[in-house]
Amino acid sequence: MRTSTSPTIALPRKKNTVEIGFLANARRLRALVRVIQANTNTNYITHSEVIEHRAEHTRRWAHFRRSMLADDIRHAIRRQKRGEGGVLVATRGRAILGVAVLFYDLKHRYGIVEDIVVNTHHRGEGIGHRLMSAATDAMRDAGMENVVLESGIRNESAHDFFRRHGFREAAKMFLKRLDDRD
Ligand SMILES: CC(C)(COP(=O)(O)OP(=O)(O)OC[C@H]1O[C@@H](n2cnc3c(N)ncnc32)[C@H](O)[C@@H]1OP(=O)(O)O)[C@@H](O)C(=O)NCCC(=O)NCCS
Repeated sequence: MRTSTSPTIALPRKKNTVEIGFLANARRLRALVRVIQANTNTNYITHSEVIEHRAEHTRRWAHFRRSMLADDIRHAIRRQKRGEGGVLVATRGRAILGVAVLFYDLKHRYGIVEDIVVNTHHRGEGIGHRLMSAATDAMRDAGMENVVLESGIRNESAHDFFRRHGFREAAKMFLKRLDDRD
C-alpha cells in the first residue's frame, strides 16, 4: 500500500504541529482505546455496536466495550501489514487528538471508515477533516472504488460532517430485538 499522503509514523514527533499518520504498532493501544471511549457518547451507537455486543442497546454501551475496542484496534493494525486497512492517528507530540480505524475489502474494492473520533477539546480545528482526507487518500491509493461508513441515527452533527465530505445516505438500517414480542 502506498502511504505517501499518510506515512506510518513513529510517535512522538514534532511538539506543536498536528501530524496524521498510520500507527505502526500497538504500543499506544491503551491511549487509543481511551481516546475512542472518552470521546464518544451513546449517539455514536449503531446497529453494528449492538449486534457485535459493544453496546447493550442503542442507548447504552456494554461494560466490556473497552476490551472489544482494544481487540478491534489490534486487528486493524494487523490489517495494515496486509494492505487491508489500518489505524490513522492525529497526534501532537505524544498526545493523541484523533483516530480513524480503516478497513479495505480488496475483493469488492471498497473501504470502511469503522471509527472516526476527535477529542472533544479539539473539535472544530480541522482534525476530523484531515483524518477523513487522509483516510480517503489512502483508500484511493489502495485501489478502493467506494468508501462507506455507518453512523448512529441520533449523531446529527457527525452526519453533517460526513455530508460536507461528500458522503450521501445510501440506506436505512432497521434493528429489532428478538426478545420483543410484536
Ligand atoms: C465528527 C468528528 C470526527 C469531526 O471532527 P472535527 O475535528 O470536529 O472536524 P472538523 O474540525 O474538521 O470539522 C468540524 C466542523 O464543525 C465546525 N465546528 C466548529 N466548532 C466545532 C466544535 N466545537 N465541535 C465540532 N465541530 C465544530 C467546524 O468549523 C467544521 O465545519 P466545516 O466542516 O463546515 O468547516 C467529531 O465531531 C467527533 O469525533 N465526533 C464524535 C465521534 C463521532 O460521532 N464520529 C463519527 C461517528 S461514525
